[in-house]
Amino acid sequence: METSDPPDRVVVIGGGIAGLATALHLASLPVTLLVASPLGQQASTALAQGGIAAALGPRDHPDLHASDTLQAGGGLSDPSVADRVTAAAASCIKWLITQGVPFDRSFSRGDLALGLEAAHSRRRIVHAGGDSTGSNILDTLICNVRAIPVIEIHENIRVTDLAIDHHGAVTGVFCTSSGSDRSPQQIFMPTRAVVLATGGIGGLYAHTTNPLGATGSGLALAARAGAILRDIEFVQFHPTAIATARDPMPLATEALRGEGAVLINGKGERFLDGTPGAELAPRDIVARAIFAQIEAGETVYLDTRASLGDRLPSRFPNVAALCRSAGIDPVRDPIPVRPAAHYHMGGIKVNECGRSSIDGLWACGEVASTGLHGANRLASNSLLEALAFARWIADDIRSMDAKAARPVSLPFTRPDTNVRSGANVMPPLDAIRASMDRHVGVLRSAAGLANAMRYFRPFIGSRTAYAGSPAHDAALIGLLIATAALMRQESRGSHQRRDYPTAAADIGQHAEITLDQALHVTLDADEQNGPPLTRKFA
Ligand code: FUM
Repeated sequence: METSDPPDRVVVIGGGIAGLATALHLASLPVTLLVASPLGQQASTALAQGGIAAALGPRDHPDLHASDTLQAGGGLSDPSVADRVTAAAASCIKWLITQGVPFDRSFSRGDLALGLEAAHSRRRIVHAGGDSTGSNILDTLICNVRAIPVIEIHENIRVTDLAIDHHGAVTGVFCTSSGSDRSPQQIFMPTRAVVLATGGIGGLYAHTTNPLGATGSGLALAARAGAILRDIEFVQFHPTAIATARDPMPLATEALRGEGAVLINGKGERFLDGTPGAELAPRDIVARAIFAQIEAGETVYLDTRASLGDRLPSRFPNVAALCRSAGIDPVRDPIPVRPAAHYHMGGIKVNECGRSSIDGLWACGEVASTGLHGANRLASNSLLEALAFARWIADDIRSMDAKAARPVSLPFTRPDTNVRSGANVMPPLDAIRASMDRHVGVLRSAAGLANAMRYFRPFIGSRTAYAGSPAHDAALIGLLIATAALMRQESRGSHQRRDYPTAAADIGQHAEITLDQALHVTLDADEQNGPPLTRKFA
């Protein structure tokens, strides 16, 4: 195995907005940016059609934005985090403008144009290139990181383990680098500071809007290293993924509903008419209403004809192109839609500086649980959260007293945890995705969640060469999410149980779990068909 120097660098893992912004904010230090694919590919940021929420309008205020965030969060958003992040929004937008992001402006005054999305009480979403915000931001930030010499970029490199010393602190990362021109190489990079910015888990579901590589690799790294994870049962389903055979599914942005598009079923009925907020109700409510129609045998459509009509292609060029490539003419026909896994609210538990429970490990963006999103993320708060925490993480790492920093201990050994695959053959990713959709999806029950756990568990647990492989990590994260979902015996935000259909006052709190705890949850013999389960920590 090769060892690469220097240990004083900061290793940032992930090439979406969280990783790039962290690397740029850190750039007074040596930074090594590790990306599992070529930079710009496999980042959810590129697919973000919605924009960034910021209280910039004359009748808006960060307090109103924070209040909308808490309202959507179903009792699990942390008010102090919501206050800090919403207050930081204007400076995050300013920073992106200085980076060169071409935000859309109003024709009349040249101010930033502000759009409306579900559950926002004001127009406050800034976009770049209409519905191409994410790709505009990504292109700009990639160009900028490539131009900074102290940011060393390694593409096509997969981090397989965090090295942890006997004090429980990070001492480096084990990686496998690959490329079409050479065979895979094992590398060890010593470092005292690792920032995980590896994105979400949507790729674990058969229906998803995320890149297929979003299978929770960073979450698995942290879990295997013993980090505390929080609220990982909360997976957001976007209500209006375009129902084509494409995988991942293209998105019909919520901003379309902000401009008046309505949801209808095959009979032409507006089934959200009687719901408070109608099509602009919180995302979980709209997703469940659509799911109920589909379960009842209906097809659901997003109808933009009356509201946008032939203005759609110029206002939403990305959606128009995605529809056309699926053989749909959105000007003439309604767009078939269905819910799809879109965003993971839970993740690695971090504090106000983005620090995890492991010394030397920070997490930024979707892989982190900062307390902002609670049980249901408010639209367009995710890019904002990544930008705000990227700066706070960089400040925290920079402020660490270099003299007080602990030395990296040598020699380095691969962590010898007991979290190893128990099977010689890992399940195909398609089977994992089908199981997650069926049992850990929009509506859950004890029997289904226990089925998923029983399916995933044999692949985890004893020692084989498969630990750290993408399939192993996918099964591991599937197991963790199913276990956390089983343990939350209530319905709240995006986590909805058929067998516990209401929110429970005494469960309205964060749920923390480690991998070790998840592996010790025991299931009763009758959970396959029977209510209610007893869950025990051995
Ligand atoms: O509908 C959307 O454009 C998605 C926005 C978001 O997930 O924040």
